[in-house]
Formats: sequence, structure tokens, C-alpha cells
Amino acid sequence: MEKYKKDQEFMDYVGHLIDHPRFQRLDDIVQHHHSTRLEHSIHVSYTSYKLAKRFGWDAKSTARGGLLHDFFYYDWRITKFNKSHAWVHPRIAVRNARKLTKLNKREEDIILKHMWGATIAPPRYKEGYIVTMVDKYWAIREAARPLKKVLAKPRRFSRKFLNSYHH
Ligand SMILES: [Fe+2]
Ligand SMILES: [Fe+2]
Repeated sequence: MEKYKKDQEFMDYVGHLIDHPRFQRLDDIVQHHHSTRLEHSIHVSYTSYKLAKRFGWDAKSTARGGLLHDFFYYDWRITKFNKSHAWVHPRIAVRNARKLTKLNKREEDIILKHMWGATIAPPRYKEGYIVTMVDKYWAIREAARPLKKVLAKPRRFSRKFLNSYHH
């Protein structure tokens, strides 16, 4: 069993959201090369939650905001908007999240500002800084090919590979 599932406190905070059929649909979408959007969301949520707990910050809001930060269904490789994907998808995510659960101010801000770096407005709460950093950390880990494969068949960084750091 995966580690996060054995963490009762974490599951009390987000287990029902993970299990929701609308959230489970994210498992059909590839996020980074080696993860679905569902897996990515759980990675970001659990790592962020653990850090927030270690710092004695609001671990519940961090877990929930982290889980819902990429709650959108379109494929950013295909669907294009007038505004950048980095600006659009947090706004769609917060709208979808509101339909699933009642968000507090901190959770809303975590979702809306998680693209800080690519977007201008910085997080308002310290928990938001955890999620924005952890999101980037997991984007790189999930996009990188497993070391075994890299060694078996070396290749240069392709454009496609570099473009995957968009979340
Ligand atoms: Fe994102
Ligand atoms: Fe993300």
C-alpha cells in the first residue's frame, strides 16, 4: 500500500476528495511524462502536508490546497487559451474545487498562486510557498525518465521533455 494511504490524519483530511469520482477522472490524464494528474496531485499534497506539519503550519489546508491545485481536465498540450496556461489553470482548478468542497481563504490562495514564478502574484500565506515549491519539485521528478531507462538508452533533452515543466 502506498505510504500516504496509511497516514490516517492525511486520509482524514483528503481521502474523501481523492475518492470522489470527479477527482478520480484526473487519473485518465497524463500530467508529466511518468504520472497522471491524479498521481501528481497526491504527490504534491502529501509532500506539502508533511512539510507543513514539520513547520507546525496549517497542514490540513496545505494538504487540501495541494491536492486540488491542478483540478482541471483539459490537456495543456492541446487546448490553448488567450491567456497563458499558467494563468488559466489555477482559476479553473479553484472553480472545480469549490464545487467539490468548501474552501477556506488559505486553500483558495494556495490553488490560485501555485504557479508563482510563471505568474506574478506571490502566495499570501506561508503554506502557499510550500505548495508552489513542492509542485515544481514533483514536476521535475515525474518528467524525468527513470534512471534505469536513461542509462539503457541515453538521449538529449528534447523540446517535449523541457516543455513538461508547465505545472
Ligand atoms: Fe499547476
Ligand atoms: Fe501541479
